[in-house]
Amino acid sequence: MQKADLMYEGKAKKVYATTDENIVWIEYKNSATAFNGEKKATIDGKGRLNNEITSLLFSMLHEAGIENHFIEKKSQTEQLVKKVTIIPLEVVVRNVTAGSMAKRLGIDEGIALEQPIVEFYYKDDSLGDPLITEDHISLLKLATPVEVDVLKHLAQKVNVLLSEFFANRGLTLVDFKLEFGKTADGTIILADEVSPDTCRLWDKETNEKLDKDVFRRNLGSLTDAYEKILARIGGEQHV
Ligand code: C5P
Repeated sequence: MQKADLMYEGKAKKVYATTDENIVWIEYKNSATAFNGEKKATIDGKGRLNNEITSLLFSMLHEAGIENHFIEKKSQTEQLVKKVTIIPLEVVVRNVTAGSMAKRLGIDEGIALEQPIVEFYYKDDSLGDPLITEDHISLLKLATPVEVDVLKHLAQKVNVLLSEFFANRGLTLVDFKLEFGKTADGTIILADEVSPDTCRLWDKETNEKLDKDVFRRNLGSLTDAYEKILARIGGEQHV
């Protein structure tokens, strides 16, 4: 199979068609963006780290029964995935207060929640990806109520698996964002990426932040933090 035309370039990834109409070729870029693109930087090694970490996590989730788009890693920065139509919703799951929820509700960060919270955001850069309700999702016809239930259920299952996986490696999964897509036959599967760009991960002992907040809040070297995550989850490291 060959890499073909560039179909789409996003903030963190390029998506290419391939000679197989059911498969797309993803290239992870070294760009870091935050605050809806207002803060930008190029960080050598970031594409490699996110490609490696996402590949490991998607393989683990597949083995645990979560159908997802990952097929295989092609190079340090590239992977093959199943072609899907992305549902324009960001599904956020929270285990500990942090980030936009702590800010919106005026609560401290770092408080463990009794129950995980699932939130939906409308994936629309021009609107700044607003938080939306299930009624808004119906109004905009982004997904049916049955599909919303499927997304919530899958997100909760992924949360159980990822939380345990990271806890066993000395990390607290504070929160994360998932995206889902539909295959040609309409099946909803997990897509996009699962990496320290899309998860908040804190060291269990020290609460050191080992995720994109390092970039958002100028807390030090992003690649050092991501290398620590990769080492904990057993990936190939580059010294
Ligand atoms: O900013 P907020 O607290 O809502 O983010 C919740 C989680 O979702 C964080 O782990 C963050 O990295 C992730 N997220 C993301 N992409 C976005 C918004 C949030 O990966 N566009």
